Amino acid sequence: MSETILTEIDKGIGIITLNRAERHNAFDDALIRELSEALVRMDTDHDVRVVVLSSTGKSFCAGADLNWMKKAAGYSAEETQSDALGLAGMLRLLNEMRKPTVARVQGPAYGGGVGLVAACDIAIAAFDAQFALTEVRLGIIPAVISPYVIAAIGERKARRYMLTAERFSAAEAYRIGLVHEIVPGEAELDEAVGEIVDSLLANGPCALGECKALIKAVANRPIGSEVILDTAGRIARVRATTEGREGMAAFLEKRKPNWVSSFGGG
Ligand code: COA
Repeated sequence: MSETILTEIDKGIGIITLNRAERHNAFDDALIRELSEALVRMDTDHDVRVVVLSSTGKSFCAGADLNWMKKAAGYSAEETQSDALGLAGMLRLLNEMRKPTVARVQGPAYGGGVGLVAACDIAIAAFDAQFALTEVRLGIIPAVISPYVIAAIGERKARRYMLTAERFSAAEAYRIGLVHEIVPGEAELDEAVGEIVDSLLANGPCALGECKALIKAVANRPIGSEVILDTAGRIARVRATTEGREGMAAFLEKRKPNWVSSFGGG
């Protein structure tokens, strides 16, 4: 395994750590490829129930590596398209993980770093975290991250922050819905991420995957017969699964469900 990405699996928690601190965890093609591979491995590993995305050093992620972007600007049309698709593919993998994902954010998260945060299910930031969609300041655009960022903060706020490229604080990131929680410092960051992870580990692993698919299927769709039939079909199917039956029986029998193992929450 390359050293630009560290992975660890501990008691149901898969931890992916961006480890290119000397470049503020900016991602080039190698990091994108290794991160993509790590995401696939974590999503398919039965020992992993929750994935935490973190990073080493003082920055969470300085976005795309500008040396790599500069080099890519000289590629042929075909090469540049396939290069950009690598980054788009990595964000898509992160966004579509079946397992819940939690971003642990310290220091600057700029450009693609904001994209990573937005593509995770839950984001917790230290008070020193700073965010910016700096692309237009560099003469480029926040293209491949835009679907995730706009989904997280909404079109109106995206218009401001994507157009001004101004820096904003963790408090502002919290206000606009980019992060779910802010904590005073790095010690509290681990504690807060730990609490979220414990909550996730207490929940049915298959139900979590089904719940992610549910949110994706229902979000931004009009509440009409199609959505209503779809949601009714989903609960009818999921309550009949082994996990659904076990979870409801455990509650009624006043015991812990069988997925709450020695390491898992509850
Ligand atoms: N791509 C490539 N290199 C980067 C980088 C990036 N996105 N971000 C930082 N670096 C490099 C710097 O060029 C510098 O290299 P050097 O030591 O060879 O001069 C090194 O990392 C340290 O960065 P520096 O700016 O000196 O550190 P800092 O602590 O003062 O600031 C940042 C850190 C992250 C706030 C600042 O580097 C920055 O704003 N980076 C650009 C982030 C950005 O706009 N990303 C969006 C890209 S689309």
